[in-house]
Amino acid sequence: MDGNRLRDEIVASLRQEIEAASQAAVCLATVLVGNDKPSQIYVRNKHRKAQEAGMVSRHVELAQNATQTEVQSAVRELADDDSVHGILVQLPLPAGVDVEAVLDLIPPEKDVDGLTERSMGRLLRGRVGHVPCTPLGVMELLNRYGIETSGRRAVVIGRSTLVGLPQVLLLGRKGCDATVTLAHSRTKDLAALCRKADIIIAAAGMAGLVTADFVSPQATVVDVGISRTAAGIVGDVDFDSVQEVAGAITPMPGGTGPMTIGCLLKNTLAAARMLGAFPR
Ligand code: GUN
Repeated sequence: MDGNRLRDEIVASLRQEIEAASQAAVCLATVLVGNDKPSQIYVRNKHRKAQEAGMVSRHVELAQNATQTEVQSAVRELADDDSVHGILVQLPLPAGVDVEAVLDLIPPEKDVDGLTERSMGRLLRGRVGHVPCTPLGVMELLNRYGIETSGRRAVVIGRSTLVGLPQVLLLGRKGCDATVTLAHSRTKDLAALCRKADIIIAAAGMAGLVTADFVSPQATVVDVGISRTAAGIVGDVDFDSVQEVAGAITPMPGGTGPMTIGCLLKNTLAAARMLGAFPR
């Protein structure tokens, strides 16, 4: 399942929509604190794709040793600025910065990452709001590749707030209707559990965890893991062995990563609509 191709389709369709509306700028703002190299690359890619989608983007960068007050005032300024529609605070923040206090400052309409407690609460309550981009990207990938979810057994490996927990909610909610099991590092006999699944979403951050013996013939395997090893950047899925068994599989890179960006940009246009800054 080719995430790059789908991301390009999403970006092109957003661009068309924005150009057709000949609308004042749709604006995504990012906040990056510190000098984490992968985060710098992720944020740069988000800006590049925002521009390709016909959006404007703004970037605020703070030093590794920025204080809590400095980070919070940067976010507060973007929250108060009517020309900014989406705010993304790149995680992780440096140790010592209270993440929750920072996220609490993002209004739910501008929370295009869907990570604040209000957005998470809305997802749980089934109310309109932004959904975290990575699990949303996985749903879009399954949907666009015609992977049936209704009545199917899905196993999500990993219980992060960024991916695993919202993924369980999205797969299980009405309209998607999968029967979902949440597995994690303490799950007994993970391989046997996964062999019963029609869909495996690996989001544990454990390099090469999912091998061919986890996968029943024709199952769908989605890799959300990312680990930096001596052999380079690898996912949670041992692609070479699993592709022999799976009916559909995402590559790493080029699978769920680009879909995260595609969904971030969709959320940003939705944010502009929620704020009344873009026609419905
Ligand atoms: N760090 C890794 N993935 C993400 C993401 O989707 N959003 C944010 N804000 N930080 C991340």
